[in-house]
Amino acid sequence: MTTRVLFVCLGNICRSPSAEGVLRTMAGAEGLPVEIDSAGTADWHTGKPPYGPMTEAAARRGYDLSPLRARQVRRGDFDDFDLILAMDDENLANLERLRPAGNGTAVKLFLDYAPETGRAHVPDPYYTRDFDEALDLIEQAARGLIAQLAQ
Ligand code: 4NP
Repeated sequence: MTTRVLFVCLGNICRSPSAEGVLRTMAGAEGLPVEIDSAGTADWHTGKPPYGPMTEAAARRGYDLSPLRARQVRRGDFDDFDLILAMDDENLANLERLRPAGNGTAVKLFLDYAPETGRAHVPDPYYTRDFDEALDLIEQAARGLIAQLAQ
């Protein structure tokens, strides 16, 4: 059965589109049935492609983020996805505020799938400028998620 996964960050131009691109590439290589999308809790960048330096850092690792466009997360996402993965606690809290009454969709921190990192959040590279740190964490969590989905 296809698992529908939504990645969520703040702007949907750095972390969550990277997670979308990384998981799509890795799941495709494994032949794992997943549908993947990403969204931001803020609407600031709606319709825009991912941030240039993020796209370039991802491209150096073989992930193509260029077709992606930002959108804001919406209440309907809780019905349309099986798993919603947040990049940090603030995203998680904002998602819980948006959750429709009675909805039971799993909403977790993405780095729950990478306990070996000892990290809970993907630091926002829009501010840290460390695009490779973000990609390292995202790749590790994507491997953990794929291992779990493959079971
Ligand atoms: P993201 O990073 O949440 O990983 O997409 C951000 C990108 C842009 C802004 C904030 C965070 N911004 O303030 O425009």
